[in-house]
Amino acid sequence: MIQARGLVQTFHTGRGKNTKEVRAVDGVDLDVHEGEVVGFLGPNGAGKTTTLRMLTTLLRPTAGTATVAGHDVVTESVQVRRSIGYVSQVGATFSGAYAGDEVVDHGMLYGMSRADAVRRGQELFAQLQLDGLWKRMPKNMSGGQKRRLDVVMGLIHDPRLVFLDEPTTGLDPQARANLWEHIQGLRTRLGATVFLTTHYLDEADVLADRIVIIDQGRIVASDTSDNLKAQVAGDLVDLEVAADDQVAVAAARLGALVHGAGGVDGVETDGHHVRARVQRAGRVVPGLLRDLDNAGVELDSIEVIRPTLDDVFLSLTGRSLRDADSADAPNQPEEVLA
Ligand SMILES: Nc1ncnc2c1ncn2[C@@H]1O[C@H](COP(=O)(O)OP(=O)(O)OP(=O)(O)O)[C@@H](O)[C@H]1O
Ligand SMILES: [Mg+2]
Repeated sequence: MIQARGLVQTFHTGRGKNTKEVRAVDGVDLDVHEGEVVGFLGPNGAGKTTTLRMLTTLLRPTAGTATVAGHDVVTESVQVRRSIGYVSQVGATFSGAYAGDEVVDHGMLYGMSRADAVRRGQELFAQLQLDGLWKRMPKNMSGGQKRRLDVVMGLIHDPRLVFLDEPTTGLDPQARANLWEHIQGLRTRLGATVFLTTHYLDEADVLADRIVIIDQGRIVASDTSDNLKAQVAGDLVDLEVAADDQVAVAAARLGALVHGAGGVDGVETDGHHVRARVQRAGRVVPGLLRDLDNAGVELDSIEVIRPTLDDVFLSLTGRSLRDADSADAPNQPEEVLA
């Protein structure tokens, strides 16, 4: 459904001698099959939106090729646009008409009859909990309502291939859960292919068959969530030791689990907490507890934490997706010339 080879996008920012080249997307290959739901994950500025804009024909690739729904994004852009739905990160622009009329006009632009567009539009309004807002102007909607209206606009013509750029950002938990259900329904009911970007790791986990991670314009991983997590070195075991003078003993015992006798490499202590990553923690923790008991170490608590997608990201890039998210995007251009 989507095939990209060596996609590159460079931007030039700044003026005169200060011109800088930003390689926003730096040689991306992608293969997405029909009916697949792919989560496209990466920190701010990684190149997600830029990749999506090339795939949806809004931006001509600097280099590389892509076919989307069987059509070339450069030479057959009209056919590509007819075959897809796109919900952009910044949302749709509206003309100032009622929300319902905007949606119907949009559907008719895609060749739907007025009656079909009204019927489908009203169905989507109900499914995305926009009941009663058909005759409201988009500018008078709340942020979350407008975001859901963006999704209706992207889906009105029942596209078989849908691109969603951070569709749930700004939605309350209940609206998010509702949209998740809707996205899952696109595949199960309509057999649609979905390519969505998100910063929410739980969202990618729940929705996506496959997760593609992009960092600094390059794909650094592409696999199922489970396989990605399995690559991370084990579960995190966190012991909370009752007394100060037992912390070192606990660290040595936990270290022995990780390395065999003697090593404490990879064991982290933090106040009364002693932590390390341990393969198949579920199997070895009972032995560890006996061992600590024999050594006279008393515990206040023990926690075993399965690897998360954030751990995957950290082990792949050396940075946490959460940290990267809270920081400003790198290379944010002051002024854009080209
Ligand atoms: N029109 C442009 N001119 C110059 N630089 C740009 C332009 N659009 C994007 N960039 C830069 O390209 C890089 C990738 O941006 P992009 O919007 O694709 O990131 P993203 O992964 O979607 O990030 P976010 O999670 O913040 O939405 C960033 O460094 C950004 O500043
Ligand atoms: Mg983006």
